[in-house]
Amino acid sequence: MLKFDVLIIGSGLAGMTLALHLAESRKVGLITKRDLLEGSSTYAQGGIAAVLDTEDSVEEHIRDTLIAGAGLCNEEAARFIVEHSKEAIDWLIALGVPFTKDETHRTGYHLTREGGHSHRRIIHAADATGAAVTSTLGQKIKAHPNITELEEHIAIDLITSRKLGLPGNRAYGVYALDKQADQVVTIAAKHTILASGGAGKVYLYTTNPDTATGDGIAMGWRAGCRVGNMEFMQFHPTCLYHPHSKSFLITEAVRGEGGILKLPDGTRFMPEHDPRAELAPRDVVARAIDFEMKKHGLDCVYLDISYKPAHFIREHFPNIYAHCLELGIDITQQPIPVVPAVHFTCGGLVTDLTGHTDVDALYAVGEVACTGLHGANRLASNSLLECLVIGKAAAEDILAAPEIKLPKIPDWDDSQVTDPDEEVVISHNWDELRRAMWDYVGIVRTNKRLMRAQNRIRLLSEEINEYYRHFHVSNDLIELRNLVQTSELIVRSALLRKESRGLHYSRDYPEKLEQAQETILTPDGPAAGG
Ligand code: FAD
Ligand code: SIN
Repeated sequence: MLKFDVLIIGSGLAGMTLALHLAESRKVGLITKRDLLEGSSTYAQGGIAAVLDTEDSVEEHIRDTLIAGAGLCNEEAARFIVEHSKEAIDWLIALGVPFTKDETHRTGYHLTREGGHSHRRIIHAADATGAAVTSTLGQKIKAHPNITELEEHIAIDLITSRKLGLPGNRAYGVYALDKQADQVVTIAAKHTILASGGAGKVYLYTTNPDTATGDGIAMGWRAGCRVGNMEFMQFHPTCLYHPHSKSFLITEAVRGEGGILKLPDGTRFMPEHDPRAELAPRDVVARAIDFEMKKHGLDCVYLDISYKPAHFIREHFPNIYAHCLELGIDITQQPIPVVPAVHFTCGGLVTDLTGHTDVDALYAVGEVACTGLHGANRLASNSLLECLVIGKAAAEDILAAPEIKLPKIPDWDDSQVTDPDEEVVISHNWDELRRAMWDYVGIVRTNKRLMRAQNRIRLLSEEINEYYRHFHVSNDLIELRNLVQTSELIVRSALLRKESRGLHYSRDYPEKLEQAQETILTPDGPAAGG
């Protein structure tokens, strides 16, 4: 058995932020199911929203967040996170993150713009901000004597006092599969943090990496945490449409720097949908593209920035330029074929502003959590900011907590299971689930489609859970069990919402209700809201 003061599950920006803030005085275990840098954080392109410019203000950033969130944001969360945005960026700069500079600007940095922002306020490292941030923080983590990082370890389930038959409900770590040894290990900890990211992989087409399978949401739910606002899955309007590049994002900063959305005949269409045109919030732009694709029977639309000087495009978007060129698309000369794809999980485990969940000593930080910041639609580039600010607040909360003694924890019991006999069940169900979610729980929803999805998910869930009870665990089985659980929560939440708001658009209820209400699901309890 491994023992730590604090166990962090996930090595994205949320997990890394926590690890670095805790490690001066705590023994930290950081487990991650692939390698240290694999996760959405590393793929982030556009940047981090923060109030850095004297021409900008906290109030305006909050207002933009609340408008994008379509009346459902927790204003207290937005205020707390935005008020700490400068401090968070200063921390990253002090650690050596190489943000793109602009000596002519008051701040000394180039600030870009994205949809829904009334100011240029996105600090970035060209078009690969996430990689710049995680590689810088990753080096500090590797060098830190108090941080034990365990790659290729996938958490299966939380260990809680309730499961141990002890009073209350407190987390004491996890059981995790060491994938290289093919063995389940017990990892005990006084504080446990889920920093396991979102659930984009529940859908067939997503900008998310393979790690985004909703593991933390499902583990937290099984341990007794409420989930909130799970119906709000954000579609990014501009994922590259190319047969050899399935989930490559074309950053919203391309539109921020002047990119225009066009039909194949070159007609611009966004001004017809919204006065903010290409820079409307994401839900609006994604829905407009979906509408135009269906109306004209298109496979994709086009994003055109080729009218800007070639050197400007190469300087601001070097990675997108290189990636597209490899596929035969010269973005300085021609428009980029794009489609919407699932991008971000706005809902998650309900937490307060220190990341605390409903289970004692269990925290959830980053995309796995629902602090209320994003409401019904996240404002671009607010996610990395949330990881940084709530990550630090959670670390401070843990550092101030009283010492406890760990109870006796039994080892993982696999005496009742055997080796799997039909692994095809896993791959088949994996595909079926993701297609059902794509077809029936997409940008435009109806009751009938959601009910169809719910029926299929029920059957898949029974089959997958039966398989889980009888066979040894594997990475794919663990993820599939979590995918089906998370899908069930998304559909259940979507069925509860009898209106259209933000990312949830229902043809059966096209109007927005006057009163905004969160959708909160409680394990084994009555659902509220919608
Ligand atoms: P992640 O970075 O996804 O990290 C999760 C970690 O948990 C991974 O290490 C994963 O391997 C691990 N993990 C998961 N399950 C388990 C398990 N069971 N056991 C062990 N480990 C586990 N947001 C912005 O603010 N600005 C941007 O410019 C931006 N661009 C984006 C571009 C792309 C292509 C994508 C996909 C997202 C983008 N986002 C952006 C969103 C943002 O990147 C994510 O919301 C954010 O990085 C989430 O960070 P996280 O630490 O919560 O999760
Ligand atoms: C992007 O660069 O378009 C992604 C930004 C985000 O998801 O916040």
